Amino acid sequence: MKLFATDLDGTLVGDRQALLTLNQVLIQHRKDWHLIYVTGRSLELAQQLAEQEPLLLPDAWVTDVGTIITYANGQTDAIWEKTMQTGWNRQNVAKEAARIPELVPQPQSGQGPFKVSFHLKAEHAEHTLPHLKHCFELAGQHVKMIYSGNKYMDILPQSGDKGKAVCHLLDHFGIKLEELLTCGDSGNDLCMLCLGGAAVAVGNALPELLEDIPASVYRAKSSFAGGILEGLIHFGWLPS
Ligand code: GLC
Ligand code: MG
Repeated sequence: MKLFATDLDGTLVGDRQALLTLNQVLIQHRKDWHLIYVTGRSLELAQQLAEQEPLLLPDAWVTDVGTIITYANGQTDAIWEKTMQTGWNRQNVAKEAARIPELVPQPQSGQGPFKVSFHLKAEHAEHTLPHLKHCFELAGQHVKMIYSGNKYMDILPQSGDKGKAVCHLLDHFGIKLEELLTCGDSGNDLCMLCLGGAAVAVGNALPELLEDIPASVYRAKSSFAGGILEGLIHFGWLPS
């Protein structure tokens, strides 16, 4: 068995024709590749996207930037939920972040039980990120801050991100790292592209991702799902 884990916006979704071609491949391999969608969106927003775009039903949805795992039968992963609860106090996190005027809270649809999310302008990011880190340190709050898309600021439990959630799913399905392929386009995908399995940065990936990925990550020339197809061939998952 293999595990195919891909980000949605800007990675799987963006080129309808290429997505339809990729879907044919995924359908052919439905029995030997687990299909996992890994997104910053909530489950509700991810499923809304699935109504607008031709997305196949995955084996699991990793939503809220890796903090919630929901299987195809609708059940959430209780072990993962426990892991996210450890050391996490959402109210305190929101209170600390509220001290920083550059952080503009996202609407309710962008908030999650284990995710406090803001918009932060790119020009403010450089000084706001260390400042916020300092505030959390002083408050004794151990959190993970992920800036991506040049505008999104997500604050998560320290043990939560897309990479850690994908690792948990490898364990859950009993799949080796050698059988993993991850695909992404922006900063919040970095940790899942760095797990040590095969990894693809699609052609339209943002500099924030490209600057930090190791040389082992395949940099596709094509954008969106076309880049994923290129990566599947590069890593020998598909014949050339
Ligand atoms: C999605 C989410 C948003 C998050 C962003 C980056 O757009 O809706 O809340 O900040 O991804 O992870
Ligand atoms: Mg993306």
